[in-house]
Amino acid sequence: MTEADACVLRARHLSKRYSGGPQTVDVLSDVDLQLRRGETLAITGASGSGKSTLLHLLGGLDAADSGSIEVCGADWRALNPAQQGQWRNRHIGFVYQFHHLLPEFSALDNVMMPLRIRRMPVAEALPRAAALLEQVGLVQRLRHRPAELSGGERQRVALARALVTEPALLLADEPTGNLDAESAEQVFALLQRMSRQHASAMVLVTHDQSLAARCDRMLRLQHGKLQPPPA
Ligand SMILES: Nc1ncnc2c1ncn2[C@@H]1O[C@H](COP(=O)(O)OP(=O)(O)OP(=O)(O)O)[C@@H](O)[C@H]1O
Ligand SMILES: [Mg+2]
Repeated sequence: MTEADACVLRARHLSKRYSGGPQTVDVLSDVDLQLRRGETLAITGASGSGKSTLLHLLGGLDAADSGSIEVCGADWRALNPAQQGQWRNRHIGFVYQFHHLLPEFSALDNVMMPLRIRRMPVAEALPRAAALLEQVGLVQRLRHRPAELSGGERQRVALARALVTEPALLLADEPTGNLDAESAEQVFALLQRMSRQHASAMVLVTHDQSLAARCDRMLRLQHGKLQPPPA
């Protein structure tokens, strides 16, 4: 494997400022970040420190004011919006604090969605989605809609949806923030197991120091900079 292959994410000199609102907010200033294949990184930081902003930039959902971001070798700025969508679908899995499942669709259909967007035939997508749901312990809930699932179950469906494409990069924004301790542990353990299984790199934003400590690396976002946590 070459060095370029091994590097799933490379962000250089990232800066982001929100200037449209009542006051200008400098959220990120000159942030550098690299992630190798299979590496897990926890990002902690106070509320409002810019963690979600950073994940949005990394996932190409918002543009930085300056700096560059490459995911699996492609710079977001070199891709048009349609290509960005395809690149995200192919290489990135997102998990959020709130599950963002489609309410009208069953667990199975929600998990199949990223594969169907790739135009994978149902006959191929369905067994893959079902297998993922089985891995997250929801084989008995395939036909349930999000409203018919518990919070922890919804989050496990969201995990299955993020992982069904076997992405090289997982971006998880407080995926356990809404869960009780036991469900949080379960969801984190699944994230870790699946990231190992497919060598997916992961950026995990969390307020939970004990979960953060179980990642390969931990950084703290403060005053617009990513810093090693205090010893
Ligand atoms: N669209 C926007 N316009 C103006 N300011 C914004 C916008 N989005 C976020 N901000 C500000 O940028 C800062 C960083 O927000 P962000 O959501 O990235 O923080 P966070 O670290 O994810 O916080 P939390 O832990 O509460 O989720 C906040 O002070 C917020 O008020
Ligand atoms: Mg946030």
